[in-house]
Amino acid sequence: MIPVILCGGTGSRLWPLSREAYPKQFLSLVGSETMLQATALRLEGLAEVQAPILVCNESHRFAAAEQLQAVGRAAQSILLEPCARNTAPAIALAALAAVENGEDPLLLVLPADHVVADRSAFQAAVTSATPLAEAGRLVTFGIVPTCAETGYGYIRSGAPLDCGWEVAEFVEKPDLATAEKYVASGEFNWNSGMFLFRAARYLEELAQHQPEMLERCRAAFAGASRDLDFTRVDADVFARCPADSVDYAVMEKTEAAAVVPMDAGWSDVGSWSALWELAQKDEYGNLLQGDVLTEDASGCLVHGGDRLIGVLGVRDLVVVDTDDALMVADKSRVQDVKKLVAQLKHSE
Ligand code: GDD
Ligand code: MG
Repeated sequence: MIPVILCGGTGSRLWPLSREAYPKQFLSLVGSETMLQATALRLEGLAEVQAPILVCNESHRFAAAEQLQAVGRAAQSILLEPCARNTAPAIALAALAAVENGEDPLLLVLPADHVVADRSAFQAAVTSATPLAEAGRLVTFGIVPTCAETGYGYIRSGAPLDCGWEVAEFVEKPDLATAEKYVASGEFNWNSGMFLFRAARYLEELAQHQPEMLERCRAAFAGASRDLDFTRVDADVFARCPADSVDYAVMEKTEAAAVVPMDAGWSDVGSWSALWELAQKDEYGNLLQGDVLTEDASGCLVHGGDRLIGVLGVRDLVVVDTDDALMVADKSRVQDVKKLVAQLKHSE
């Protein structure tokens, strides 16, 4: 089994801490390890697991390699994308690398930006999913939903299998009314964004549902240059690859999906409110990181660096202070932080 760690996202909803130059997977948001390091360490002790393949943007190659090295881990290869084409092509590159020498290993696809509190429950779910993946299923790991979050994929379970269910329906990022209906029905799991399948099976699915994407990825990989652990895919070819996520490109369309439950204290630290939810707070429900004074403040997340921050008489605010940017937001609006980032990009 080869873990494929996806670390090419921008994490824009955690601006201004998460930046293009240093997105959230390379930050320590929870605990002392960075999210990438935690992802790699979570694999320790998993049966028959090889060194991971990392897929990331060219500009993050040293951060990725150095962070793994710092926790005594090494990747078997680091695939570098000259531009982001979303997760379906990123996984395709990893699958092409995995079948290169004539083998067809299982790929355990892991986003590099999740918190998983219970490592053994995570490993148990992966182990129980292995026979399904070996038999040709595309396995996703399902999380029992706790709210009508619209940033996730939703999976309706079908016929029972040995350790999970067939996927009757996979709906990526539904609107709020649909998400509310799904959660109320009790028939849906969230898609954790982690997957287990054979490399060749994934490539077959792409051939069926995304032939152009597969063709571009094949050509970009065939034209790759290599130095040390880095494999740099052909920039011109990859730039012309259609961009799409694995969820839309494959999981919504495939007939071969299965879902295996995972109850491992999972959280996608996708936004400031998600970080607030999962972290330890003070008696007033404030999460304070850095040098922070509060008076009559509650439900706030305040993150700073060396500068002292004072917060007075406010509720449910998010204040994030960095060297060159300060953000103040209502906690209920933090999904829209990416709109600020979009404005910033327009003004560049
Ligand atoms: N290499 C690479 N290249 N990695 C990427 C790229 C890319 O172009 N785009 C995103 N990633 C990485 C991110 O860094 C992250 O680790 C992972 O792939 C998932 O991408 P997100 O952009 O965070 O996806 P999402 O959160 O909107 O949705 C996915 O995850 C949800 C759970 O967290 C989907 O799988 C949803 O269905 C799922 O519920
Ligand atoms: Mg995510």
